[in-house]
Formats: sequence, C-alpha cells, structure tokens
Amino acid sequence: MRQNIVAGNWKMNKTLQEGVELANELNTILASKTLNCDVVIGVPATHITEVVKTVDGAKIGVAAQNCADQVSGAYTGEISASMVKSTGAEYVILGHSERREYYGETNATLKTKTDLALANGLTPIFCIGEVLEEREANKQNEVVKSQIEEALFHLSADEFAKIVLAYEPVWAIGTGKVASPEQAQEIHAYIRSIVADKFGAEVADNTSILYGGSCKPGNAKELFSNPDVDGGLIGGAALAAADFVGIIDAF
Ligand code: 13P
Repeated sequence: MRQNIVAGNWKMNKTLQEGVELANELNTILASKTLNCDVVIGVPATHITEVVKTVDGAKIGVAAQNCADQVSGAYTGEISASMVKSTGAEYVILGHSERREYYGETNATLKTKTDLALANGLTPIFCIGEVLEEREANKQNEVVKSQIEEALFHLSADEFAKIVLAYEPVWAIGTGKVASPEQAQEIHAYIRSIVADKFGAEVADNTSILYGGSCKPGNAKELFSNPDVDGGLIGGAALAAADFVGIIDAF
C-alpha cells in the first residue's frame, strides 16, 4: 500500500547554520516519536551534505529542490542528479511551480530531469498544479493531465512506481488560501485515475499523491483524512520545527 509522506520544501530560506539548527531541532523532536508517515526535508543544495549528517536517516529523508537537465559538463551553476545523489540526498523535488514560472521549466525539461533523477537512484517528488485562472475556468484536470502526460508518461510502469506526485494548486501556494478537502480529494482521485489508465490500478494504488499549498497544522488532518491525499508538501510551515511536527502529527 502507498506510503504517507510529509515533505518540507524550505525553498530559498535559511543560511547553512540556520538550516542545520532547524534540521537538528526536528531530528531531536522526531527521535522520541513513532512516526505514521515518512518525513522528508527539501533543503537548499548548499545545505544537503550537512543536513544529511545532522539527521537520523531512518526517520528523515533529505531532498534537493531541483537538479539539472544535463548529465555533466559546461553548465555553470547547475547541479546534476548524480551530484545530488552523491551528497546523500534520496529525493529531488522536480517541477515546482516556482521553477516552472520563474526559471522557465517546461514539461519537456522536466521529462529529462525525471529521467536523470531516476537513473541516479533519486526519488522525484514531482509537482503539478494549475494557476488561478485555470481553476476559475475549470481547467484544472486538463492542466494536471498534460503536466503528467508530457513529463512522465514515457516512463515504464516500474519507473513510474518510483515517483511521488505532489499536487500544488498555484493559487494556494504561500497565499493562506488552502484548497478545500473536497477540492483536494476530487483532483487527487482524478490524478490517480489518470495514472491507473496509463500504468494500471496497482501502480496507481501505490502512488503517493501529496497535497501542497498553505498546508498548516490546523488544516492538515482534514486534508490528509481524504482517501486520495497521502500527505503534504509543505512550504512556510516547514520553516519552524513545531509547525512542521504539527503537520507530521496529523497522521
Ligand atoms: P506553502 O506551504 O508556503 O503554501 O508552500 C507550498 C509549497 O510550495 C511547497 O512546495
């Protein structure tokens, strides 16, 4: 059966020292807890090595927030999937709406990034989601369908089985405007149905689909209690240990 996951996305926040402190705090709190979900923290690339050393890998997995769409070579400033893997990170967040919007990532780029992440043994946390105008025009299903189809449908079922999906409606990210539990359940079930049509019911049943966008300790339980919501990808509330743990405790 699929795994429940609470993943933090720190985005471009915290210096190395602050990040290690937060990771340490989280590690200490989680040490005395029995967890009912996997916990992942997506930290800036500069922090990964130290954060991996700081946390108990049996309880907290570490994610990069991006990787390059090239294997290696003259790509100044880029960080390859194999470099990410060599730090000890196990996951990579791909296709976040901020990467799509500000850095021009397309479904085609993300297809290549996904292939490289998988080839290097990383688990992609693959983000999809519509913008407000698309939601208002009731186009959310076709948007997420094309994002998934164009970036992930070339994979084999075995490869796809390694992907974690994160549905993040862009209008809910950092806005305090969370999707209702009904909206989340409806589109998560739709996403699972697309996966089932392509890769079969077993793969679909085993795919973790996380919700992201203004998820907080106060609304996490209601969101996660939906049958097709398998956890969360958490931005702002992942930046304070108590808030993040409050969300983990929703399971
Ligand atoms: P917020 O939780 O701050 O809305 O961010 C969600 C997000 O973008 C996680 O990737």
